[in-house]
Amino acid sequence: MPLRVVVAGATGVVGRTLLPLLRDRGHHVTALVRHVDRLDGAAAADDVAVADLLDSAGLRRELRRVGPDVVIDQTSGFGRADQDEGLRRTAQLRECGSRNLVEAAVEVGARRIIGQSMTAAYRPHGHDVLDEESPLWTDAPGCWGDAVRALAAMEEAVLTCPDIEGVALRYGALYGPNTHYAPGGAIHARVCGSALPLVDDGVGLTSFTHVDDAAGAVLALVTGGEPGIYNVVDNEPAESMEWLPAYARMAGGPAPVSLTVDQARAQLDWLTVHQLTEQRGATNFRLRETLGWRPMWPSWREGFAALFGLWPG
Ligand SMILES: NC(=O)c1ccc[n+]([C@@H]2O[C@H](COP(=O)([O-])OP(=O)(O)OC[C@H]3O[C@@H](n4cnc5c(N)ncnc54)[C@H](OP(=O)(O)O)[C@@H]3O)[C@@H](O)[C@H]2O)c1
Repeated sequence: MPLRVVVAGATGVVGRTLLPLLRDRGHHVTALVRHVDRLDGAAAADDVAVADLLDSAGLRRELRRVGPDVVIDQTSGFGRADQDEGLRRTAQLRECGSRNLVEAAVEVGARRIIGQSMTAAYRPHGHDVLDEESPLWTDAPGCWGDAVRALAAMEEAVLTCPDIEGVALRYGALYGPNTHYAPGGAIHARVCGSALPLVDDGVGLTSFTHVDDAAGAVLALVTGGEPGIYNVVDNEPAESMEWLPAYARMAGGPAPVSLTVDQARAQLDWLTVHQLTEQRGATNFRLRETLGWRPMWPSWREGFAALFGLWPG
């Protein structure tokens, strides 16, 4: 059945990919944006709502006008900000903006809200790949701890509100066209500039999510699946000792240099060292089993290769 769907973050990488998928399914799609001029023709929607998630009154006014069945949050505060500033802005967005969105969605009688989280927020332990029952690292150090606590608060707001079905999707590291991993993106620049090394034995795991799969999972959860938390990741969590040299090769960059942990701590930020040495990956088992969801990009290997015109070979 066609639904009235609002997408916040419609000008973002995932939002732009999602809009045409929703319209192809026959849904009536409203792009919720801060600036209309950032919504180009390629991401056309049936309707546009102009509001900032941090402006509760404006948000309520626009949602009242639209009357959505489903509200989707694909916002992020990163933009072009550096890592710490991006984390700080995203934490504020998750704590205040996402709460405003949940409250506005409930007020206008929306049936479901789909919020946005990340698998990188899991507390690292053991050598396992983690599922949705694993705890988030809410007492992590520094601004990463602030970011994880904000995510946890957002998830709680989405999942515990009695008057709406709440879904929280935890993405892995997002890659694909126009992301940090694409040519010209921040990860691409770091790898090609020898600024992302292998650290120690490189056993930190990353679960990757292609933008197509992030958008595809949201589409599936608009009409299907029980409320709750779902990891949205590919089938192959990868240690940094595996994905980083492979990415460098495909990007045509230099092989990553090797550093000890002490050298890395002296040269790199805390979060990067954590990601390369101790972060845990995540499993997509719940999404596969309960919805029959399958990633279009089951492995980052083909996904990275496609970024550099190497796939199909
Ligand atoms: N990148 C990753 O590795 C990763 C991993 C896990 C989860 N995620 C999450 O995945 C989602 C999609 O990410 P993405 O890469 O598509 O994001 P993106 O391209 O950076 O887009 C962010 C979007 O959020 C909007 N936005 C920012 N602040 C806003 C505010 N106060 N009110 C309304 N809209 C606001 C931006 O609008 P403007 O055009 O006005 O700036 C833009 O449309 C985000 O929730 C992100 O946190 C990302």
